[in-house]
Amino acid sequence: MKLFVYHTPEQTPTGQAPDCAIAVDVLRATSTIATVLSAGGEAVQVFSDLEQLIAVSETWPAQKRLRAGERGGAKVAGFELGNSPLDCTPELVEGRRLFISTTNGTRALKRIEDSPTVLTAAFINRAAVVNYLVEKQPETVWIVGSGWEGSFSLEDTACAGAIAHGVVEQSHLPPEDVAGNDEVISAIALYSQWQKDLLGLFHHASHGKRLVRLDCHEDLKYCSQTDVLAVLPTQQEPGIFKSKS
Ligand code: MLT
Repeated sequence: MKLFVYHTPEQTPTGQAPDCAIAVDVLRATSTIATVLSAGGEAVQVFSDLEQLIAVSETWPAQKRLRAGERGGAKVAGFELGNSPLDCTPELVEGRRLFISTTNGTRALKRIEDSPTVLTAAFINRAAVVNYLVEKQPETVWIVGSGWEGSFSLEDTACAGAIAHGVVEQSHLPPEDVAGNDEVISAIALYSQWQKDLLGLFHHASHGKRLVRLDCHEDLKYCSQTDVLAVLPTQQEPGIFKSKS
């Protein structure tokens, strides 16, 4: 197995697909997806376009759907939810499909949707992703940070490093044996430096600061937990994620 870390979706090679692609948007799309599926949501369906989300969700029974829209960290007017994982309680989401569009996370998922296996990862479900990789041993794995509008996001690359670190630890292999590009080694180094203070890392991150300005302190705390949900969000058909736990 060779792991490749890409800081943003734009950095992934064009015209190629790995055996397994993993999207990471710690703050907050992939934390929200893991939370919804862990809380009993029927599925999460992702859209890069808000109009398309509305059109497709209109074909779904109203009592079986929830619509979440986020732009620039804030909730989009007219949607029931923004992108806070803390709003996704079992009481609200159980048995319902979440239709969601976010600024960067859902765009990253679009970029990798043609891979045979597509997963989503955040710190909260990191162990489930690592266990899957160690057990299934896909030959090539891309871990793709969502970034922010095309630029690097500290928290996504740290989470990519947490996944690579977990694979190295469980496989008892030196990092250079699993690293397909230099970004893997730097992501592991970033995670190793901050693993005991991920919340502190989020406060250095530009999107972490944006969420603090929007009073989303509790979201930051929640998303900084590691390995607390045993859920593996897995693409079933393009854009539709269900739980494999
Ligand atoms: C995104 O997709 O850019 C994020 O998930 C933004 C957010 O924090 O809601």
